[in-house]
Amino acid sequence: AKPIQIAIDGPAAAGKSTIAKIVAEKLGYIYIDTGAMYRAITLKAINQGIDLSSNEEAGALLLETAIDLQPSTNGQLVFLDRKNVTEEIRTQVVTQAVSQMSAHGLVRERMVELQQQLAEGRGVVMDGRDIGTHVLPNAPLKIFMSASVEERAARRFKENKTRGIETPLHELQAEIAKRDKMDSERDVAPLKKAEDAIFLDTTTLTIQEAASEILKLAEERL
Ligand code: C5P
Repeated sequence: AKPIQIAIDGPAAAGKSTIAKIVAEKLGYIYIDTGAMYRAITLKAINQGIDLSSNEEAGALLLETAIDLQPSTNGQLVFLDRKNVTEEIRTQVVTQAVSQMSAHGLVRERMVELQQQLAEGRGVVMDGRDIGTHVLPNAPLKIFMSASVEERAARRFKENKTRGIETPLHELQAEIAKRDKMDSERDVAPLKKAEDAIFLDTTTLTIQEAASEILKLAEERL
């Protein structure tokens, strides 16, 4: 069968990347975590003391930056100017700044271009906020994945624990809610369900159940 593009969008910590990885592996497709790309440029901006509120400065920074994604056994490695930043982009400092950085039109323009190049002509599962609406508007399968904010915070709490991070649950919930609000209310390519996306509420689904549901929908389109 001819490979297809699968777009998965949704709010923070809805399980997108975990499920997208499983789906990509099962289909033999590449997986692209676009949030990791926004996190990488945010990390660089913080390290260089760039004004995060400036569209021009943020856009100029991205023009002189190399962001590379490399598949690995458990997902994807992220390189910023050839340096492996896979772990560093998940810190609270980056998480709290990324929505401001990704709201800039110049940043998004360049990122969307990069993401479209990565996906061109291949079987791909791409997750983010604007994949179905802007990056891959012709994808034959678009999923909008969500879960209650309580459930999402609880999942992130568990995941953090296995990585030795101990942010209290109520703080995680507040951070997630704030990021969702900023991502949904920004002017450029806000988080939004594409009209032709299928809504998948994962609040009461296991990871395997959600992945199976998407695989079933994918097979109908192959
Ligand atoms: O997916 P993740 O939570 O790692 O994304 C981090 C942030 O990157 C989001 O909160 C959002 O501000 C931004 N993002 C975006 N568009 C995408 C993917 C992520 O604006 N396609």
